[in-house]
Amino acid sequence: MKARATASPNIALVKYWGKRDSQLKLPLNDSISVTLAGDFQSRTTVEFSEDYAQDSLLLDGVEASEKEMQNSFLVLDYLRKLAAVDFRASVVSQNTFPKGVGIASSSSGYAALAAAASAALGLKPDARQLSIAARLGSGSASRSIIGGFAHWKAGSMDDGSDSFAVQIADENHWPELRIVTAITSAEPKIIGSTEGMKRTVETSALFRQRLSTIPAKVEGIRQAILGKNMHSLLPAVMAESNSLHAVMLDSWPPIIYLNDTSKRIIAAVHELNDASGEIIAGYTFDAGPNAHILTEQKYLHEVEKAIKGEGVKSLHVSRPGEGSRIL
Ligand code: DP6
Repeated sequence: MKARATASPNIALVKYWGKRDSQLKLPLNDSISVTLAGDFQSRTTVEFSEDYAQDSLLLDGVEASEKEMQNSFLVLDYLRKLAAVDFRASVVSQNTFPKGVGIASSSSGYAALAAAASAALGLKPDARQLSIAARLGSGSASRSIIGGFAHWKAGSMDDGSDSFAVQIADENHWPELRIVTAITSAEPKIIGSTEGMKRTVETSALFRQRLSTIPAKVEGIRQAILGKNMHSLLPAVMAESNSLHAVMLDSWPPIIYLNDTSKRIIAAVHELNDASGEIIAGYTFDAGPNAHILTEQKYLHEVEKAIKGEGVKSLHVSRPGEGSRIL
């Protein structure tokens, strides 16, 4: 009972930040993302056997932390229940990310785990079930099951059965779109997303206001993706990223992920758009200082030129990619 799967990280365009259930990783708001193609992948092998006394998990050759074990256990157990078996699993996961790029691997990691484990168990889950299984590992992983553009619906059920990602458009929908990742630091995060969002929910008054703006943003960004409309997508994505980092700063103690280079990139993108007389680039930042800049192939050179320079360690160009798949 063995299978291998791959999944890629996704970049949130409408951010998930705040849970209504921390165990089941049920979010307080809908979110939207684009799954990346190319260099960034998690490849995971799962083997179930009656010979194993307990689950084991090796990540890039290193034994997983307590937290990673717990989250993986939630994914494995959900699938074991679906398959009505009780075998323990050996999980070996490898990231193909170029070393030191500072890209969070939890979205791709738990999506690959859910896909490989369900195949190893002989399950044929639909995208909904796979997305729910991945979500139990890490919320954002629910979206890496889906190729192209994903919409994770927060849902309202207590058991999380209506909280999963659906596809807005596949990876071939917008072939000219590029996502330029500018690495500004490869240092580990000062505070993890799980802890950070908990702090924001508990202490930020601005966070309530942010939640009230999400439904209109989700609809606007969904329509902009469907219409491949850069001019409405990019300003909305930048404003949404700024809203996330505003509620982080409004948390107590404040959470600050952006560094000086991140701020210089924000300024450079606005200057580039002003100088171009139209919106040709849009930044977004997750729980870290690395920028993801959306643009189209025809502007790539200009965008790279504008953000390169002091402080940017490396640039990685990607495009919308496939969801998780069995190898
Ligand atoms: C800022 O999915 O890593 O990247 O569910 O606690 O594992 P947990 O959190 P995680 O949070 C991602 C936060 C974000 C925004 C996003 O991806 O939507």
